[in-house]
Amino acid sequence: MQTTRYDPIAMSLHWIVALAVFAAYGIGLVREELPKGDFRAWLLTLHMSLGLLVIALTVVRVGWHMITPAPTAIPTTPIASVAAKLVHLGLYSAMFAIPIIGLFAAWTKGRVVGVFSLIVIPSPVSLDAHLAKILEDAHGVAAHAFMILAGVHALAAIGHHLVLRDATLARMLPFVTARRSNLRA
Ligand code: HEM
Ligand code: HEM
Repeated sequence: MQTTRYDPIAMSLHWIVALAVFAAYGIGLVREELPKGDFRAWLLTLHMSLGLLVIALTVVRVGWHMITPAPTAIPTTPIASVAAKLVHLGLYSAMFAIPIIGLFAAWTKGRVVGVFSLIVIPSPVSLDAHLAKILEDAHGVAAHAFMILAGVHALAAIGHHLVLRDATLARMLPFVTARRSNLRA
């Protein structure tokens, strides 16, 4: 069946993951500046738990996309369409790769990884302080690149809404419909 909007599950997954990614990034940066102590340690646990949530929901999201139809494409130029696909591919790669690099950075450093103290994921690798440092740096650099890509993606969505006046953003937002907002569907 043809559809013109993202379904509620795809929308929820998109916005929950986006919030978790932004929160994990913000916490990752802020905790670097804090003095060592219980609060800093708790923030790392929160950071790792949010990152694990991102991987888990991204797996669900890929599965959901495979069994539900994508909304019909809004007419655009071939270049814009390829650019959007490449950006989405980059975002999906980052949603898997960055938390996974973070996981291995934590394991090789000997940190306990899990979702608070509810679930602990045993480490499959041995301690390696040198590798841990390389992975931590790669995780940080990749996270900054991820935020730039997400920023470009968000600006494009806002540009579609405000400048091109089409339904690209509206169909990813709950309660906003193209007809009510007088947009091109
Ligand atoms: C989308 C998910 C994630 C994002 C956006 C993210 C982002 C970040 C950022 C921005 C930093 C600070 C890096 C710097 O300033 O150089 C950081 C540090 C770190 N992250 Fe993540 N991260 C994510 C998921 C994870 C996960 C799943 C784990 C592990 C289970 C993890 C483990 C770490 C560790 C161990 C550090 C270094 C902490 C320290 O200073 O000792 N991250 N992350
Ligand atoms: C870390 C943050 C974000 C990530 C990882 C992300 C990821 C994605 C991905 C992978 C898609 C492709 C469709 C899908 O698989 O669900 C998508 C679609 C979309 N995103 Fe995001 N997104 C983020 C933040 C944002 C923000 C802040 C906005 C708006 C300001 C936004 C607006 C949209 C819109 C409008 C679509 C539909 C595009 C279309 O139909 O071609 N996203 N997003």
